[in-house]
Amino acid sequence: MTSVRLTGTKYGCGGGGCGACTVMVSHYRPATKTITHYSANACLLPLCQLHGAAVTTVEGVGSTRTRIHPVQERIAKAHGSQCGFCSPGMVMSVYTLLRNRPQPAMDDITHALQGNLCRCTGYRPIIDGCRTFCQVQTDCCQANGAGDCCLNGEETLEETQHEKPELFDKREFLPLDPTQELIFPPELILRAETAPPQTLTFRGERMMWVSPTSLEELVQLKARNPEAPLVIGNTNIGPDIKFKGILHPLIISPTRVLDLFEVTQTPHGVWVGAGCSLTEVCSLLEKLLPQFPEEKTEVFRALSQQLGKVGSLQIRNVASLGGNIMIAYPNSDLNPVLAAGNCKVSVISNGKVIVPLNQDFFVSFGKTILKPEEIVVSVFIPFSRKGELVRAYRQAPRKESSFCTVTSGMRVFFSQGSSVVQDLSIYYGGMGPTTVSATQTCTAIVTRPWDDETLQRAYDVLLDELVLPPSAPGGKVEFRRSLTLSFLFKFNLEVLQKLREMVLIKHSLDGNNNLRHYLLPVNNPLLPLQHVPKDQRDQDPVGRPIMHRSAISQATGEAVYCDDIPRTDGELFLALVTSSRAHAKITGLDVSQALRLPGVVDVITAKDVPGQKVRKMFGYEEVLLAEVSCVGQMICAVVADTRAHAKRGAAAVKIGYEDLPEPLFTVEEASEKSSFFEPRRMIEKGNVAEAFKTVDHVHQGEFRMGGQEHFYMETQSMLVVPVGEETEFNAYVSTQWPTGTQDAIAEALGIPSNRVTCHVKRIGGAFGGKVVKTATLACITAVAAWKTNCAVRCVLERGEDMLISGARHPVLGKYKVGFMNDGRIMAADMQYYTNAGNTVDESPLVVDKILLHIDNAYNIPNLRGRGAACRTNLPSNTAFRGFGVPQSIMVLENMLNDVAMVLGRPADQVIREINMYQGPSVTHYGLEFSPENLWRCWDQCKEKSDYAARRRAADRFNQDNCWKKRGLAIVPIKYGIAFAESFLNQAAALVHVYKDGSVLVSHGGTEMGQGLHTKMQQVASRELGIPPSKIYISETSTNTVPNTCPSAASYGTDANGMAVRNACQTLYQRLEPIRQKNPKGSWESWVKAAFLDKISLSATGFYRGPDLYMDWDKMAGRPYAYFTFGACFCEVELDCLTGDYRAVRTDIVMDIGRSVNPSMDIGQIEGAFLQGLGLYTLEELKFSPSGLLYTRGPSQYKIPAVCDVPLRFNVYLLPDSHNPHAIYSSKGIGEPSLFLGSSVFFAIKDAVAAARSESGLVGPFPLDSPATPERACLACASPFTQKIPASTPGSFKPWALNI
Ligand SMILES: Cc1cc2nc3c(=O)[nH]c(=O)nc-3n(C[C@H](O)[C@H](O)[C@H](O)COP(=O)(O)OP(=O)(O)OC[C@H]3O[C@@H](n4cnc5c(N)ncnc54)[C@H](O)[C@@H]3O)c2cc1C
Ligand code: FES
Ligand code: FES
Repeated sequence: MTSVRLTGTKYGCGGGGCGACTVMVSHYRPATKTITHYSANACLLPLCQLHGAAVTTVEGVGSTRTRIHPVQERIAKAHGSQCGFCSPGMVMSVYTLLRNRPQPAMDDITHALQGNLCRCTGYRPIIDGCRTFCQVQTDCCQANGAGDCCLNGEETLEETQHEKPELFDKREFLPLDPTQELIFPPELILRAETAPPQTLTFRGERMMWVSPTSLEELVQLKARNPEAPLVIGNTNIGPDIKFKGILHPLIISPTRVLDLFEVTQTPHGVWVGAGCSLTEVCSLLEKLLPQFPEEKTEVFRALSQQLGKVGSLQIRNVASLGGNIMIAYPNSDLNPVLAAGNCKVSVISNGKVIVPLNQDFFVSFGKTILKPEEIVVSVFIPFSRKGELVRAYRQAPRKESSFCTVTSGMRVFFSQGSSVVQDLSIYYGGMGPTTVSATQTCTAIVTRPWDDETLQRAYDVLLDELVLPPSAPGGKVEFRRSLTLSFLFKFNLEVLQKLREMVLIKHSLDGNNNLRHYLLPVNNPLLPLQHVPKDQRDQDPVGRPIMHRSAISQATGEAVYCDDIPRTDGELFLALVTSSRAHAKITGLDVSQALRLPGVVDVITAKDVPGQKVRKMFGYEEVLLAEVSCVGQMICAVVADTRAHAKRGAAAVKIGYEDLPEPLFTVEEASEKSSFFEPRRMIEKGNVAEAFKTVDHVHQGEFRMGGQEHFYMETQSMLVVPVGEETEFNAYVSTQWPTGTQDAIAEALGIPSNRVTCHVKRIGGAFGGKVVKTATLACITAVAAWKTNCAVRCVLERGEDMLISGARHPVLGKYKVGFMNDGRIMAADMQYYTNAGNTVDESPLVVDKILLHIDNAYNIPNLRGRGAACRTNLPSNTAFRGFGVPQSIMVLENMLNDVAMVLGRPADQVIREINMYQGPSVTHYGLEFSPENLWRCWDQCKEKSDYAARRRAADRFNQDNCWKKRGLAIVPIKYGIAFAESFLNQAAALVHVYKDGSVLVSHGGTEMGQGLHTKMQQVASRELGIPPSKIYISETSTNTVPNTCPSAASYGTDANGMAVRNACQTLYQRLEPIRQKNPKGSWESWVKAAFLDKISLSATGFYRGPDLYMDWDKMAGRPYAYFTFGACFCEVELDCLTGDYRAVRTDIVMDIGRSVNPSMDIGQIEGAFLQGLGLYTLEELKFSPSGLLYTRGPSQYKIPAVCDVPLRFNVYLLPDSHNPHAIYSSKGIGEPSLFLGSSVFFAIKDAVAAARSESGLVGPFPLDSPATPERACLACASPFTQKIPASTPGSFKPWALNI
């Protein structure tokens, strides 16, 4: 699509895991004369497979040049597009849905968006915009299940909905008119109808693609080429080719062989063509279900339930049933159900045979019993018999669009009128190299009555039968084993229920074994806006929910990101070669083979750097392309004419290593060897040692927090173009810090900064990850551009980006706390060890910020904090939204929870409240402030969430439910805004007014989705008294505004807003004499008159921010301009058997002063909250024992998706709050609410505590972050998890490191 300049479709991961590349594929089926449309991931769609199909990209849906489509309009106007990188994919998913169902239900929308990730918005506004297409727009969150309205129930409490706020005006929306949609190309219909079927052959550089037309031809082809894969959905072969470098010289595409798509019904069941997509199979089963009595459709139902959970809709639309079976993947969701359900396959090669899908079929990882030349033609799904019950279970790291951890299919058959088991099959996925049968367990049950005694024995047999070694690939060994038991227990409950219905047993179930599931979120958020003052002019946009200024361009795919910049003549592409060792000397670098490959132009090594080879930070040196100190370190780079050639070249570079001793990975290993990046810090208030002597209790604890991948949707991207004279370069970089990048390039090239211009149009998400690392990558790209004298582009693949660019710092926190019987904390001693990785980056500053926030909202009279950045052999970690604060406060809040548990008192209402700052206050570093707004947020949060009543309801729920528990939490936040490094608190702007009255604003901040440019437009609009439509912001560039500071620390609007305001005020004053002469004149007339009067219509603006500082020797200072306050309530429901949880409700109250743009700020709050939810409950970085990051893409690393949005998600902006320290009395909001995601963690912990108390376990217990289903389930200490013998630490090598 790049070659035809259709750049709207985005590339986010390349593996079908993010949805950024979603397009609509349409086919004409001559047999039925129908046209079908489905969404698909373009990154996995082989072009050859699309012969005869029509593909609609976002450009075909609508554009600003013709007409925008209602989907594009509604997502944009509902504020569903921030950085916009995910927006085209979102648009295409919903557009395709509407092509098939113009009036969808809410469920259809959330299903359609299952596979579309967004790292900015928190999804709520996207869902809200799309909800307007639903015929019935319900206000019910559907938390109680179908037909059970939450608004009726006691469980969900009354909302004060009298003042329904409007973030957007639905009346503005274009109506959806299906008759206006693009038609399927008639020429394709004609060709499909008339062209005689013939074999299609496509030849590429290294492979050939053949598409036969008949089964006979297919069989012959496969017999001649048994190793050639049959590609249908390409969801398995595609990622193998792309990520594992597997080359298939021949690919056979059987998509035109009709036999593979036939469906035949028999008296015993249904034969389904193996080529049918999973969506087609699911629709078929759903169509068949109502046609037969329930007892006949047990397998159909279990299979259809499981099918709905495989991958995302885009994957299911292309992935084939036969493919899922044949890849024999250990975590296949379908194979355990097909095998348990007695399904079979019809196989053809020399002749046709029927092969049962049982334990003999799945031989080993990726292997079945079939021979390479055999082809699965169809799959038989049988009807069930009376007395038969079939169920499927799965548990996955994320509820949707995620491979399972363990999955299962179970079938039992009872003799008529008896509860004696006649036949039983139990299959599991995720418990070995392929689908496995629990045969011995089945034998232990068959011929016995289904009762407690039989089942108890069965659990023990199962435990012995399905054993995983402690270092099993995938880890989670105890959890996986416990899930096998939990699933059998769940099956037991359902069988007992069935036997009761059949009146074969009498007793009722105890402990209310509720296995009910929630429906997908149908949010009805309450987002009360702050009202602008009554006397504010209607034209003044400040304080109003103005749409992101680029939202429409983003939704139409017209917005230009770095990689969308058109290719220039002779442009080259750069691919990096990275280290596969954690700590080694490079003994040899052989690039000869790479240089011989087609298209490869050069290999860039450290020797080629003409300027400084070393980058200095905090006294430490990072040498470009040097000796390796982590896996993933950049060693050299290959430049070639195309992306594919560069990658191939990079793979061909051979590196010799000599391993150096003792790589350090964990903070413990680093501390033991005193491997730190100095300075280590300490801060103390009061006298901690003395205070411990006077308290009623002393408690010590430890809390470990994992890191977090930025997962900005646009990976690191840059293009460096030599101008052609006087060593001048234009660098187009996706960076938060244009000046930092400019300086780094100039240093690396040994040229003055005035020869390098860094341009940033927009960034597809950054979150702190596009500051330091981006500059290093830009240096390497610039060296390549300098050496080759060609434009060089570098865009990282998702896997490379995750490997190279670092993450949030993982932290180990240790604490000792002294407190009184009433809960007052008198002393706390806290130590933080951050895992900084192999280079210093900004780690010492992260440690500083950690120590400056160890008080959060609490006045602890004697408080000590110590912090160290541990130097390890992992990829260097870097800034990430919150810059250490989310780690710092988390340890503190966990300590407070421990105090509550030691005392047996509620954490929220007693321990947190009793310790919160009261009245005029001073922080532990001597900064005076008023906590009044902190208390107002806290009180309003309790009130809005109806905390007390919900607590009572949760207690009742927990009493009534044995396996599901509800948990609640409220957390406060006090977050310091601005940079403690005073010089960074400055900004500049340049405003030009052109003769026609249009205005061009430039400032030093970058637009990365946070809406900074929109807010600057609002500022300029107010100051100049003209509508925002007359104001344009083109880009951020170092030749318009020099010496910019990074857009970070939630300080972008504060600093740049003041600079823009300053420039606009200068211009406004210059026009004053003209205005006085002609007070009734228009803006345009004044501008024209000013020009004729030789008045300069261009002005710079500058903001000299506050002189903040922190004196670490004196342990005192004023490092922040002010605090942003907030509080967040969360309630979750936890399945104690699997650890699955659902955030039932979230209420956030945030003090952000007087918001410049409430829709932007609410977007920041929601987006940060969800990112926090990811950090604290979902996202896990996993490293191998040799320091290799396993989690290098959305398939392994799960960020929150639509399914993670709280069912009810309310955000309130604190009214009547003023802030004298920032523009128009607003407050910085980019980072503070990320910590509020921890409310989900503490609510889970609360639910776990409720489960533990039933087993008599009280008092503090460890639960590290993230509280993944694995950790939550194991912490519940259910009878099943208790059965799993723990492996002895040290007796084995774990699959993953605990860094
Ligand atoms: C992002 C993502 C998420 C996923 N999530 C899940 C999940 O949650 N649960 C789950 O179970 N699976 C999941 N999958 C796996 C997916 O379901 C399978 O990859 C898919 O079903 C394979 O079918 P395909 O048509 O795409 O196979 P292809 O990639 O086209 O082919 C795969 C292999 O199967 C062989 N093959 C295909 N058809 C036949 C046939 N008729 N006869 C003989 N051999 C044949 C081919 O020779 C080839 O070797 C996911 C995949 C992706 C990419
Ligand atoms: S780029 Fe295709 S799904 Fe991510
Ligand atoms: S707006 Fe969705 S990823 Fe940025």
